[in-house]
Formats: sequence, structure tokens, C-alpha cells
Amino acid sequence: MLLLNPQWSCWGFFFFFPALLPVAWRLLITSREQPFLSLSSSLLSMALTPIQRPEMYIIGAQPLCTQLSGLSQGQRKLCQLYQDHMMYIGDGAKTGIKECQYQFRQRRWNCSTVDNTSVFGRVMQIGSRETAFTYAISAAGVVNAISRACREGELSTCGCSRAARPRDLPRDWLWGGCGDNVHYGYRFAREFVDAREREKNFPRGSAEHSRTLMNLQNNEAGRQAVYNLANVACKCHGVSGSCSLKTCWLQLADFRRVGEFLKEKYDSAAAMRIGRRGKLEQVDKRFNPPTPEDLVYIDPSPDYCLHNETTGSLGTQGRLCNKTSEGMDGCELMCCGRGYDQFKMYKHERCHCKFHWCCYVKCKRCTSLVDQFVCK
Ligand SMILES: *[C@@H]1O[C@H](CO)[C@@H](O)[C@H](O)[C@H]1NC(C)=O
Ligand SMILES: *[C@@H]1O[C@H](CO)[C@@H](O)[C@H](O)[C@H]1NC(C)=O
Ligand SMILES: *[C@@H]1O[C@H](CO)[C@@H](O)[C@H](O)[C@H]1NC(C)=O
Ligand SMILES: *[C@@H]1O[C@H](CO)[C@@H](O)[C@H](O)[C@H]1NC(C)=O
Repeated sequence: MLLLNPQWSCWGFFFFFPALLPVAWRLLITSREQPFLSLSSSLLSMALTPIQRPEMYIIGAQPLCTQLSGLSQGQRKLCQLYQDHMMYIGDGAKTGIKECQYQFRQRRWNCSTVDNTSVFGRVMQIGSRETAFTYAISAAGVVNAISRACREGELSTCGCSRAARPRDLPRDWLWGGCGDNVHYGYRFAREFVDAREREKNFPRGSAEHSRTLMNLQNNEAGRQAVYNLANVACKCHGVSGSCSLKTCWLQLADFRRVGEFLKEKYDSAAAMRIGRRGKLEQVDKRFNPPTPEDLVYIDPSPDYCLHNETTGSLGTQGRLCNKTSEGMDGCELMCCGRGYDQFKMYKHERCHCKFHWCCYVKCKRCTSLVDQFVCK
């Protein structure tokens, strides 16, 4: 349910972020390093860099923002202004990667992180559907983490949500518990995550420019997913659980739901190309044009079946598959017709669990011999 209006007025933004006004202008400065690796070299490298409590950096006079690798110029400035946000951006991106790996665990491309420098590796240089998903889910992770951190009082520039009371909330329910500040999370993530894309100044209509537009669209889709899935949560009060009184607030959806939602958007992602006016346009005009909630891509996916240094594909050799499944996790599709090897493996499980009064559960450990299938 959409409770808030996602159309921000301009004054509203600077009302909340007066400090960003000068930065916003300085962001126009261009930076040409690493044109395509915007995500992997900043947001996601932060996911892999453990950021300790930011106070430590301040006290130690060792500036956090110069230590974080891969920040763009504009992001570095935002980092200096909002040092206490950085840990949550890192956490959020990490949550995004984990969710990506969960959603794609049964696919040929499994969202694996390749190495410590490029995170998702070279496949991210290709403007594919998969790349679109990783941008969206990590932007979503950042909105999620910042919104929650506001609510928990961890950040100096935001607090509980100040979202207006939903019109359809029953009259006698109270509105005003401390809610997740998705409003702030959305805006901050937009400034921070998109900063790198906005700094670029590629010629209109160039391949690099269309990739920038693709990234921006997918970042936005990820942020909107978190924003739009946030909903009202309520708690009962009243004599002996009578629930005569309710207090309600705005609450983030479980991040799994965000992952599932974006996975659907991945399945229906729109193929785009750069148009004559320097904007992305849909390749197949028979379909409805993508909305800001939709994922878009500009390149076909590489072949994820075989290991390929050029594309960065890891290939599916050595992946587990399911012999009886006809889905993407089935051996036929997962192994791309190359066949599979069969192993017997011992599987240890908790079993025969019993509830003991009161209150614990005791289980036995069972071992069984199971068949495992691994792609050739
Ligand atoms: C990244 O990996 C390389 C080798 O793969 C290693 O030499 C380097 O120290 C690593 N960097 C970090 C920050 O872990
Ligand atoms: C790797 O991918 C590139 C681009 O798709 C292709 O031209 C090349 O033949 C592939 N190499 C191998 C060894 O499959
Ligand atoms: C993803 O696939 C690669 C090889 O394709 C494999 O090395 C890695 O373990 C897989 N990761 C997960 C989480 O299954
Ligand atoms: C394999 O796929 C079948 C059919 O989809 C499913 O019932 C079964 O639970 C799967 N096995 C494993 C180990 O995931």
C-alpha cells in the first residue's frame, strides 16, 4: 500500500538537507574514472569493508571518508557531511547482496561475489538484466538500512518517521508510534547512491551515457520498492488484551518481500536502447513503457553456462543441481546439457524434536545418506 506521495517537492528536499545545497552544485564536477564500475567500486566495496563505529574514526583523527575506497568525489563530500550514515550504507549494501544471492541461488548466475575489489566482477560491466537487479537491490538495501537507523536514533540528522496519518486508518486508532523513516532513507539514498552517476558527463547518446541512464533507473526502482512496500504496523493496548486501543506507525516491509518484488521486476525487465533524443526508449514498442518502479537493461545477458574471462562469467561447473526439478535448478538447465556427476553425501539434521515443559525444544541429530548432483 502506498501511503506517502513519492513525488517530492524541491523545497522539501532542501528543507531536510540544507547542508546538501552547496554539495548538489559541486556534484556537477565530472569524474571519468572507471565509467562502468560505479556500483562495484563504491557501494558494494563498502559492503565488504567492515566499517567500525564512525566515532572511532573521528576520535582517531583518521578520516573515515578518505579510507573508504571507491567513493566518487560527490560521495566523498556526502561522506564528510554524514559520517554517521556510512556504516549503515555498508550494512544496507551487504543486506542487498545477501538477498540477491538468496533470490538467485537456483539460477545459473547466482549473484556470486567474485573478488574483493570488484565485488560482482566483470559481469557488471555488461548492462544486463542481472546487473539491473544488483543495482536495484543494493539501492534498496541502503534505503532500508538508513530508514531503520533513523527510527533507532542512530543518526544525528533524522529520527522517527513523520509521515502523515493515513486517511483510511480507523478514527480511534492512534497514529504516532516511532516509525521507520522511509522518507529520509529514500532521499538520502537517492543523493548518495546516484551521486556517482550524476557526476558523469558522457556525451548524450553515447554507450556510456545510456549505461548511466540505466543505472539511475534501476537505482530508483530499488528505492521505490522499499518505499512503496512500507506499510502500517499496529500494536494493541487495552485491558487484558482487549485491543480496544491501537497505536500504529509506518514500518518497513521484511526485506525478503523487497527481494521477491524486485525479482518479479527482474523477470519483467524492459530491454532499452538509446533513442535519438538521448533518452532510453523501449526496444519493443508493443509493450507498455517501463514505469519508475521497473527494471531496465540495455545489453543481452552473457552466457552464464561457461567460464569466460572476457565476460566475467563463472560458469556452472561444480554447481549443485536438482535431478528431479524441471526448473532452473534442475540438472538439465543448470548444467546447460553438459551432464552431471552424482555423489553420496552425509547430511546432518536436527530431528525428532520434542517440546519439554517448560520451555525448550530438544532434538536428536540424524544423519542420512543423500544423493548430490553436481554439474560437469
Ligand atoms: C584483495 O585480494 C588480493 C588478492 O586477490 C589481495 O592481495 C588483497 O590484499 C585483497 N585486498 C583486501 C582489501 O582484502
Ligand atoms: C567469451 O565471451 C566472448 C563475448 O561473448 C566471446 O566472444 C568469446 O568467444 C568467449 N570465450 C570463450 C572462451 O568462450
Ligand atoms: C555461485 O556459483 C559459483 C560458480 O558458478 C560457485 O563457486 C559459488 O559457490 C556459488 N555461490 C553460491 C552462494 O552458491
Ligand atoms: C528437487 O526438485 C523437486 C521438484 O521440484 C522438489 O520436490 C525437491 O524438494 C527438490 N529437492 C531438493 C533437494 O531441493
